[in-house]
Amino acid sequence: MKKFDRPHVAIVGATGAVGTTMLSILEERNFPAASLRLIASARSAGKTVSTQWGDITIEDLATADPCGIDIALFSAGGDRSRAFAPEFAAAGATVIDNSSAFRMDANVPLVVANVNDAAIEEHLGIIANPNCTTMALMMAAGPLHRAAGLRSMIATSYQSVSGSGQTGMAQLAAEVDHFNANRDGLAVGDWTAPGGEVYARPIAYNVLPLAGSITAAGYTDEEWKLVHETRKILGRDSIRVEPTCVRVPVMVGHGIAATMWFDRDMDVEEAAQALRETHGAQLWDDGKVPTPLDSAGIDDVLIGRLRRSVGHPGGISLFAIGDNLRKGAALNAVELGERLLN
Ligand SMILES: NC(=O)c1ccc[n+]([C@@H]2O[C@H](COP(=O)([O-])OP(=O)(O)OC[C@H]3O[C@@H](n4cnc5c(N)ncnc54)[C@H](OP(=O)(O)O)[C@@H]3O)[C@@H](O)[C@H]2O)c1
Repeated sequence: MKKFDRPHVAIVGATGAVGTTMLSILEERNFPAASLRLIASARSAGKTVSTQWGDITIEDLATADPCGIDIALFSAGGDRSRAFAPEFAAAGATVIDNSSAFRMDANVPLVVANVNDAAIEEHLGIIANPNCTTMALMMAAGPLHRAAGLRSMIATSYQSVSGSGQTGMAQLAAEVDHFNANRDGLAVGDWTAPGGEVYARPIAYNVLPLAGSITAAGYTDEEWKLVHETRKILGRDSIRVEPTCVRVPVMVGHGIAATMWFDRDMDVEEAAQALRETHGAQLWDDGKVPTPLDSAGIDDVLIGRLRRSVGHPGGISLFAIGDNLRKGAALNAVELGERLLN
């Protein structure tokens, strides 16, 4: 695996919810980049961003020259990754791709930092960053799987609107204003649709039991990501995952309520010990309840409500919540970039 002392870095999708977070995390962690390039669409090209590496003019991806880049952090949507990531890799960059384009490609490792870091060694130019919901869940499931072998899991997500990018956050803010104009009406069904095309139903003061789009067997693409990405990251194709993905009116922070069963029964103290030892996770016990507001803006995934399953005994139930823009996307990508440093 090619390693770098002071790599030349590019962020593709630099103006997005994830891309702007990538920039701030590179700065916070003093990433030893020799230079930084910011790339987005023609809409943003020509604008200047002030950074630790000086004032940088945003380039248009369609015309940007991929030569001279060592590490390219891609976060501009799957279509752009499919079209441009192989070209950047062929020009010599190691691409860390945040979209779903290559996650299930057998030649592309899918890596959660602090869970399956060794997989990064197998990369052939592109490394995939997992889906934001799967990522937070793996910070809890990974250590428990290592301890006792994960066999099956029921997982229900509570996903924030920033999972839909800048437009998701703008939509929630606009809908809150719309409904606040007649808030009393919400209690008696007297409301009008707020409009907007981001979600199938209103998201403010509401819950949408549909995150992503329906694909096979009545499950959404987000739900299938939880199934397939869990198996690939943990390296066990037989893990049975029963997923439901729900969108909630939260700005940042994807939560997952999960119950997991293992090759043998697991007790709470053993699970707690494994989670306490996990770098990048915080176990909230003694009645401390982790929420999206607690997770927003921090690096660690918070894990709480740890308990032994009762309906189907022998398993562990918990709630994991992580900042989807940080550990769920930008932070993990930067952590993978750090694994590429000498
Ligand atoms: N949000 C999350 O929690 C999350 C988590 C994990 C993974 N992801 C993935 O990360 C990617 C970006 O998500 P986001 O939430 O940051 O979205 P976003 O806020 O909508 O930002 C999209 C970014 O892509 C750029 N872009 C769009 N069309 C482009 C084009 N034709 N050519 C070049 N650049 C283009 C945009 O540039 P302009 O500003 O110039 O349009 C912007 O920088 C997606 O693949 C998403 O699935 C997101």
